[in-house]
Amino acid sequence: MTDLLRLENLSVHLLANHSSIPVLQDINFSVAEGEILAVVGESGCGKSLTSLALTRLLPEKVFSYHSGKILFQNKNVLEFSETELYSLRGGEIAYIFQDPFTSLNPIKKIKDQIIEPYIIHISQNKKEAIEKAEFLLGKVGITDIKDRMEAYPGQMSGGILQRISIAMSLMCNPKLLVADEPTSALDVTIQSQLVDLLMEIRKENKMSILFISHDIGLVSSISDRIIIMYAGQIVESGTVDSVMDAPLHPYTTALLGAIPTIGDLSHKRLDSIPGIVPAPIDFPKGCHFHARCTKALDICKTKNPNMTDREAQSVRCFLYEGEQTKNA
Ligand SMILES: Nc1ncnc2c1ncn2[C@@H]1O[C@H](COP(=O)(O)OP(=O)(O)OP(=O)(O)O)[C@@H](O)[C@H]1O
Ligand SMILES: [Mg+2]
Repeated sequence: MTDLLRLENLSVHLLANHSSIPVLQDINFSVAEGEILAVVGESGCGKSLTSLALTRLLPEKVFSYHSGKILFQNKNVLEFSETELYSLRGGEIAYIFQDPFTSLNPIKKIKDQIIEPYIIHISQNKKEAIEKAEFLLGKVGITDIKDRMEAYPGQMSGGILQRISIAMSLMCNPKLLVADEPTSALDVTIQSQLVDLLMEIRKENKMSILFISHDIGLVSSISDRIIIMYAGQIVESGTVDSVMDAPLHPYTTALLGAIPTIGDLSHKRLDSIPGIVPAPIDFPKGCHFHARCTKALDICKTKNPNMTDREAQSVRCFLYEGEQTKNA
């Protein structure tokens, strides 16, 4: 499969008080055409920063793209002109965010919001834009479409609004959809309906999806490959089957210990991971996870491990040192 997006050694820094603090370090991953790649990690691991960095949505007064490349269709987004960025954002790469109540404008009718990307990126023909919006609203299961188009976000439930956000993200036939916790603000039943809907749409439109979630159980059922992030770094990546069946990094193992197993009636307490994810200013020396790791070695406190490649997985952990490494 051809890579649609490829991040090569991307590092992003936060600029604060005349200092420059790394918030994303050495991020490497690719999304192939038509593929679903899941990005998983606890709150504060850098998932959203990564997703915003893809289209340079991180404000450049506060963040600097320190090193590396963001290749979209083999062109480096870090070298894009303002015009190229404009057509990338909302055109070729579209976003769905966690909370539709904040991602949609409360004082603008749905109709005006949903046609906006089409008018900006595709054609100024308003009639055509409205027809496309109505078609997509039907596709995502909205009824009373004409009434909904005239309504404001505050008049609808979160589930309906998130369906509208999905329709809106499809207005320009994006090649990549970035879904940042698209269902975590919603009830579980609505969650699974929306995930099914995204899967259907991806099949029909052959688009790729970067699916961000803290829920490894949810994403494992829908994704092709998975990356696990911890404190601004990727600590493990691989096919979903390999990572779920044989997690290598102690952090991945701990995340998997924190999800319930369907059919397990033993009422055993789920494992939580003691401690918290450090903020970028507190990233420790050595492996970022060592203070919470049950398998930490002495070296983990002083040296940050490189990625070690296995057949279907890569892992950033000294337990696997000695095997073939990259980024050495
Ligand atoms: N504008 C900012 N200024 C300073 N720190 C920031 C800023 N944005 C994010 N951070 C910090 O960067 C880290 C990563 O944040 P990010 O939003 O990417 O986490 P996340 O993995 O998406 O978490 P969540 O699951 O809660 O959405 C966090 O420690 C966060 O506090
Ligand atoms: Mg986030």
